[in-house]
Amino acid sequence: MIKQKWIWVMGILAATVTLFQFCVQSKTPLAQDPRGIAYAGAESCKSCHAAIASTYAQTAHHNTTSLANAVNIKGSFDPDSNQFLYNKDLKVLMEQEQNKFFQTAYENGMQKARFPFDLVIGSGRKAQSFLYWQGTNAYQLPISYSVVGNCWVNSPNYPTDHVRFDRVIPIGCFECHSSFIERTGMRNENGYRIDEMNKQTVILGIDCERCHGPAAAHVAYQKENPTDKKAKYIHSFAAISNVQQIESCATCHSGLREPIRSPFLFRPGHALKDFYQPDTTQQVAEKLDVHGNQYQLLLASKCFKGSMETITCSSCHNPHQTERKNMQLFSTKCMNCHQPNTPQFCSFEQKVGPTIVNNCIDCHMPAKPSELIKLGTQNNSKKIANLVRSHLIATYPEASQQFLQSIKHQQQ
Ligand code: HEC
Ligand code: HEC
Ligand code: HEC
Ligand code: HEC
Ligand code: HEC
Ligand code: HEC
Ligand code: HEC
Repeated sequence: MIKQKWIWVMGILAATVTLFQFCVQSKTPLAQDPRGIAYAGAESCKSCHAAIASTYAQTAHHNTTSLANAVNIKGSFDPDSNQFLYNKDLKVLMEQEQNKFFQTAYENGMQKARFPFDLVIGSGRKAQSFLYWQGTNAYQLPISYSVVGNCWVNSPNYPTDHVRFDRVIPIGCFECHSSFIERTGMRNENGYRIDEMNKQTVILGIDCERCHGPAAAHVAYQKENPTDKKAKYIHSFAAISNVQQIESCATCHSGLREPIRSPFLFRPGHALKDFYQPDTTQQVAEKLDVHGNQYQLLLASKCFKGSMETITCSSCHNPHQTERKNMQLFSTKCMNCHQPNTPQFCSFEQKVGPTIVNNCIDCHMPAKPSELIKLGTQNNSKKIANLVRSHLIATYPEASQQFLQSIKHQQQ
């Protein structure tokens, strides 16, 4: 009797599975998420998390990689500002033909090489680099764009005397600047590892599930149970430790290291040490490059050590909003722990005066030049510094004097 019932159940189940597969296959335009059926895709979050989705769409994370087009490329293609000169005989022109964009190298007026802009890396906060595809490889174009300098620049660490179009980029750029791309193979060329990728599988920008983990089951459950206002089947940041929360951000904000596992598989609650080789350089925080090392610098700060690890990246940053340049807002975050009229407040208060509450940042987290990334302008005439906020929160006498002078100047 029982056996017969099971056969029935199995039969119905098999039929459902076949039917389900059929439905999935027949809906080809709604292609499955390339990461697998556990993922729902960012579009599906909008119906219930509309407010977050709309502010998130404006953030640097969301826009950190994009298709090359007139809006996403911030540099100019106008005839008077579309060139990068190496020397009097050699130049690269940024050229537009209808909706296509190219970098073309000319030597003594002769066209030597020409490659398209396919992808843009960098949201346009400070700088952008550009990639083109050839088969399973992505190559970096020789000319990048500095938003800060408002000019085309030599890509970081590129030669200044000849034009290179042959630099293959590793999958690492995508691991930190996108949500997914499939690696189809690896080969060795002259001692360098070359990553082969399937460009059809790329998910540009950092999407919700890159930080929160796969959410298809969450979407299905909440849709079926619209009256349940409690979240199910989704990793919760509230449920993990502060160090684990910081490590979620550190997947991309702890410098360049060799991965052990694909960073695309990182979920809230995972440990950083299972994903990257340890940092063996043993650099002291004061010497660490400010670019992309927010994790190490914050952990070395007295705020972190002295607060029994109650501080996380979210103590100051809302990951769903752009709060850039809002020094007053960031300063209120400092004052959550360093309240005015308490011994924990600034011992320099008298010198600064009442406007101190507007900006703790320029004195205690000054913007410092990165040594790793400097961008050369044409004819090697100058280097544009890449200034990054140091996350080593400390006392900086020189920056403090400078800031003091600048506010005195404003008051006069
Ligand atoms: C059908 C509605 C619905 C959809 C679609 C939906 N969610 Fe949710 N989600 C909820 C509800 C309800 C909650 C609980 C209340 C809240 O936190 O807003 C929630 C909470 C969450 C939380 C907080 C969990 C916690 O405990 O901290 C995250 C993260 C989340 N959703 C992510 C997503 C992502 C990512 C997507 C898209 C892939 C998505 N949600 C799609 C309804 C939905
Ligand atoms: C850069 C990583 C990151 C991205 C991308 C991201 N989130 Fe979050 N999200 C977080 C963190 C961290 C928290 C916990 C914040 C806190 O502790 O205050 C959070 C909290 C949440 C919550 C619960 C708390 C709340 O604010 O309601 C929801 C819901 C949520 N996220 C949905 C989304 C959706 C939807 C998207 C995409 C539109 C998204 N998140 C993109 C990191 C991210
Ligand atoms: C998948 C990789 C990745 C993860 C995970 C990630 N970030 Fe980022 N983050 C980036 C990249 C890349 C940029 C530079 C974006 C750009 O401008 O192109 C960035 C930029 C930022 C910025 C500057 C934004 C601005 O508008 O100036 C802040 C702040 C930041 N991240 C905080 C966080 C926090 C907090 C978390 C964890 C909740 C986090 N990030 C997780 C890759 C990541
Ligand atoms: C380990 C993660 C990681 C890898 C790998 C990585 N980046 Fe980044 N990148 C970041 C973070 C984080 C930022 C912004 C934070 C900062 O400036 O400290 C950033 C910033 C940038 C910016 C400037 C964006 C802006 O406007 O500020 C560009 C352009 C860029 N990266 C290009 C690349 C390229 C090209 C590659 C591959 C050769 C690459 N990155 C590899 C994490 C990474
Ligand atoms: C989560 C609470 C918390 C937050 C947020 C916080 N701090 Fe701290 N901070 C601390 C603690 C705790 C100490 C250590 C006090 C001690 O050891 O005596 C500290 C120490 C400091 C010091 C002394 C550093 C040194 O090297 O002597 C400065 C300066 C400081 N914080 C400034 C700031 C500024 C500016 C901000 C905002 C950008 C900030 N803090 C945000 C908790 C915090
Ligand atoms: C105590 C407050 C505080 C904490 C904690 C904090 N940040 Fe920041 N962060 C700031 C401030 C202030 C800025 C400067 C914003 C600006 O210049 O507009 C900043 C800027 C950034 C930037 C942009 C840097 C640049 O100059 O381009 C990144 C990336 C970033 N934070 C990532 C992180 C990550 C990742 C964590 C956790 C490891 C973290 N932050 C923790 C206060 C904080
Ligand atoms: C004009 C620069 C400047 C501004 C603005 C400023 N600070 Fe300071 N802060 C200093 C200097 C310099 C010291 C060290 C004074 C000393 O050693 O006598 C200091 C000391 C501190 C200390 C104590 C460090 C210790 O243990 O002695 C804390 C905490 C602190 N500041 C927090 C803040 C907060 C929070 C704000 C914003 C509300 C702020 N500061 C604004 C320059 C500044």
